[in-house]
Amino acid sequence: MIIAVDGPSAAGKGTVARAIAKQLGYHFLDTGTLYRMVGLAMLKAGKSGDDEASATAFAKALDPSLVREEELRSENVAAMASKVAAMPAVRQALLDYQRQFAKRQPGAVLDGRDIGTVVCPDADLKLFVTASTEVRAGRRFEELKALGQKVHYESVLEDVMARDERDASRATAPTRPADDAILIDTSDLTREEVLAAVMDLIAEYKKG
Ligand code: DC
Repeated sequence: MIIAVDGPSAAGKGTVARAIAKQLGYHFLDTGTLYRMVGLAMLKAGKSGDDEASATAFAKALDPSLVREEELRSENVAAMASKVAAMPAVRQALLDYQRQFAKRQPGAVLDGRDIGTVVCPDADLKLFVTASTEVRAGRRFEELKALGQKVHYESVLEDVMARDERDASRATAPTRPADDAILIDTSDLTREEVLAAVMDLIAEYKKG
């Protein structure tokens, strides 16, 4: 079974996707880390955000097993990830790994922006998890503070809005719900409530 969880940044999709995978004993892939790894490689090599040739080369050479979570979570990396994610050749280079991952047994949960629309259009269940911009910026702000980073809410809000705008308006695989996706607005829900709602949906799907 393949479960696609898409949505804008800090909507809570990562948390819910990880929790579903754990409960079901499925494999979990946060596809944003792939774009972040390419972004980090670009920053480390001192490349600029419009250097598509370098970004594509990094994407092709990417070894997802080398993921180092802490390094990937900064706002700098997020901003560069959003730039490389708009490049069609970068997206293409990362596609095969994601599709192969989705086939893992007994099932896989993938979270991202284009899982239900491009990576796994045949996914068994597609969720589009969202929340208001202010709620998402607030969550991201708390997350960064917890990581010990010095941040201001206003600048996090601006960053979140700029990235979402770029992710949603790009020509290739923009963030958008698939036609058959189920929309979940987490603005006024706790993590537990979101997880319970999603587990109900999965149970219904399994019943047929
Ligand atoms: O979810 P995240 O913040 O870790 O994602 C990092 C960037 O990668 C973000 O700008 C959106 C982009 N991304 C994407 O374009 N497609 C995906 N499937 C996952 C992430």
